[in-house]
Amino acid sequence: MVISIFGLGYVGCISLACLADMGFNVIGVDIVEEKVNLINSGKSTVVEEQVEELIEKNRNKIEATVNTELAFSRSDVSFICVPTPNENNGALDLSYLRNVISQIAQSIKLSQKFHTVVIRSTVPPGTNREMCSLIEQISSKKSGVDFGVVSNPEFLREGSAVKDFFNPPYTLIASESELALAALKQIYSHLNAEIIVSKLEVAEILKYVNNTFHALKISFANEIGNICNSLKIDSHELMDIFCKDEKLNISSAYLRPGFAYGGSCLPKDLSALCELSRRNYLRTPVIDSVSVSNGFQVSRAIKIVEQFKKRTIGFLGISFKTGTDDLRNSPLLDIVEYCLGKGYNVLVYDNNINLSLISGKNKEYLNSKLPHIQKLLSDSLLTVIQSSEILVIGNKNVEFEEIKLSQNKSILDLIRVPELENIPGYHGVNW
Ligand SMILES: NC(=O)c1ccc[n+]([C@@H]2O[C@H](COP(=O)([O-])OP(=O)(O)OC[C@H]3O[C@@H](n4cnc5c(N)ncnc54)[C@H](O)[C@@H]3O)[C@@H](O)[C@H]2O)c1
Repeated sequence: MVISIFGLGYVGCISLACLADMGFNVIGVDIVEEKVNLINSGKSTVVEEQVEELIEKNRNKIEATVNTELAFSRSDVSFICVPTPNENNGALDLSYLRNVISQIAQSIKLSQKFHTVVIRSTVPPGTNREMCSLIEQISSKKSGVDFGVVSNPEFLREGSAVKDFFNPPYTLIASESELALAALKQIYSHLNAEIIVSKLEVAEILKYVNNTFHALKISFANEIGNICNSLKIDSHELMDIFCKDEKLNISSAYLRPGFAYGGSCLPKDLSALCELSRRNYLRTPVIDSVSVSNGFQVSRAIKIVEQFKKRTIGFLGISFKTGTDDLRNSPLLDIVEYCLGKGYNVLVYDNNINLSLISGKNKEYLNSKLPHIQKLLSDSLLTVIQSSEILVIGNKNVEFEEIKLSQNKSILDLIRVPELENIPGYHGVNW
């Protein structure tokens, strides 16, 4: 299999060197002749550890050209590594990608063999489908039959790019074409990393999400560092210990989209940290905006409930999380309170809540928020289901997996019960 690589900048040059080292014949293409000449003379176009050695070592498998048609005709797979810079509004500019794809489409038009086009550049969701249509329009050929487009985001970091190329966390590919996917699986079978096949838009948006998370982590750590510094606490000692907790801190915990947080600890301690920051005249916008974001998630759920345009609402689970009767700062109570204020008929079922056993601060909070809870609570799940036009699922409970609904009812699921997803009237809060 011969691979052409369009764009010999950072991603393209590393890919060219590493794919050649994996045993493939590669043809690099760039509009900048100087870069083409560098590759043809065994040199790297970027400063990056090991790249030049790999290019020099594999010179018999590497060539470069400015001629798109030539590179296309000699290859079976084309990796697209052209820039996607920001436009003025922040969106990514796809003009380089459209240019190169249009050129490739002209070659596909004249070609008799199947060709795989791989988008390695970072692109917005929907780009794969757009590029398939563009190639079909220009070439009058059919996606999946004459060509296939694969989304295959690149995870390398500058400074450790070769190491990252050979040791990715996983390889992610997505395409509507099985033939194109098979070609990519064959290429990446040389790497010791899981190959994940996802939906197109998941593969496309993942890179945005990764990089946003990395940026968020840096800003979070910097704000924590600034607070520590003002209190004469060694921020590196703190974060070293913080990062050792791989159960809750550096883990997948708390990373499932869903509903707002609540309870007795998170809101309280977050407020206390914000106060420390203010008291020390610091600006910590990331930390300060966490509770704002949480409030928006409650508003989002309320908005969905209102869009159902029904008046009787049954809450299944109202404590702040599954498996507890702790109602303190439960954001579900905020929705219940809102609905009562707006004149909805409200029913509640929560098998963890026994009013005669609730005491102390928990009781105080409940009384202040919902003094008439006794009248809303039912101990029969069936009664609540049958009497409600809208059901809001707030906690996990195996009983909820069995829910059967008559027509014209709506479910708002805040935690994701997969067993219910196909019921007519089902809405996930963000899935
Ligand atoms: N740099 C990184 O660490 C990194 C990591 C992952 C993903 N990405 C993404 O990969 C893409 C490429 O990034 P980069 O840093 O390699 O960009 P770059 O600017 O270093 O290189 C892009 C190259 O494409 C060439 N080019 C432009 N139009 C062309 C055309 N029509 N035909 C052939 N070549 C053409 C340019 O001359 C340039 O050499 C971007 O979408 C970027 O977001 C970058």
